Amino acid sequence: MKVRFLGTAAGGGAPQWNCGCATCVRARRAGVSRTQDCLAVSGDGESWYLTNASPDLRTQLLATPELAPAAGSRESPVRGVVFTSAELDHTLGLLTLREAGSLDVYATATVHKALRSGFPIETTIGSYTQLREHHLAPGTPVELEGGLRVTLTVLSSKRPRYAGTAPSGEWVSACRFDSGSGTRAFVYAPGLAAWTDEFATVIDGADVVALDGTFLTEEEMGPGRPASGMGHLAITEALPFLAGHPGPRYLFTHLNNTNPLVLPDAHEASALAEVNAAVAFDGQLLEL
Ligand code: MLT
Ligand code: MN
Ligand code: ZN
Repeated sequence: MKVRFLGTAAGGGAPQWNCGCATCVRARRAGVSRTQDCLAVSGDGESWYLTNASPDLRTQLLATPELAPAAGSRESPVRGVVFTSAELDHTLGLLTLREAGSLDVYATATVHKALRSGFPIETTIGSYTQLREHHLAPGTPVELEGGLRVTLTVLSSKRPRYAGTAPSGEWVSACRFDSGSGTRAFVYAPGLAAWTDEFATVIDGADVVALDGTFLTEEEMGPGRPASGMGHLAITEALPFLAGHPGPRYLFTHLNNTNPLVLPDAHEASALAEVNAAVAFDGQLLEL
């Protein structure tokens, strides 16, 4: 199995265009940039599945040699898109794929419904390409091309702001990919609200877990805006759980622009190494 991190920042990227916080200022000065969170996964190195589609997707695709079409063809190695949420930072890039001949999109029924109503991007892009909607039932594995299996597990019912009055549902999921032979597993959970027993089961036997790295600390956004209230378990709160679940390699992704770990030389990263964890970077390739 191969995994390519296309972007590793939360919504807005890092630095964020309108932000002058300490991390954004330092990132601008150092020329550091992280694009918005999504990744690509393949079981055989030939058929690839995007997991989330960020607003930066075109730039991310052009920077990724595995995702280029073969010379003389218009056949993309991108076979489909799996969504872990219906948030704008995870779905806006779908519009970038409108030139595709057809597109397979995998998500929970709740997410598909949002992408046909509150933010009807699936309806819109359906006029440009043939979009095939696959409804993933949480906990039920689905076979993909290239010997991959994908399973979603619901992590929280935190809805996107545009879906303000929508009923609770299967809004935010963890995504587990298993290789056909069942020997390799990768879990991606950019929206982990809390570490639960169910989540511990999801990561059981995984080689690598890409974890919610939105905030370093619970109070990072200031008074009255705790990380947990935004559906994100802060890294410092997650570290004891990682220590209690040795085995996988942990990589934090979906970093908010305020998170000091956006910067490659952040001293706060030393605590991560102690629990077999690190911060993912744009373009990082994993071969499991
Ligand atoms: C999140 O990850 O919490 C959302 O994407 C927030 C947002 O971008 O509005
Ligand atoms: Mn987000
Ligand atoms: Zn900032």
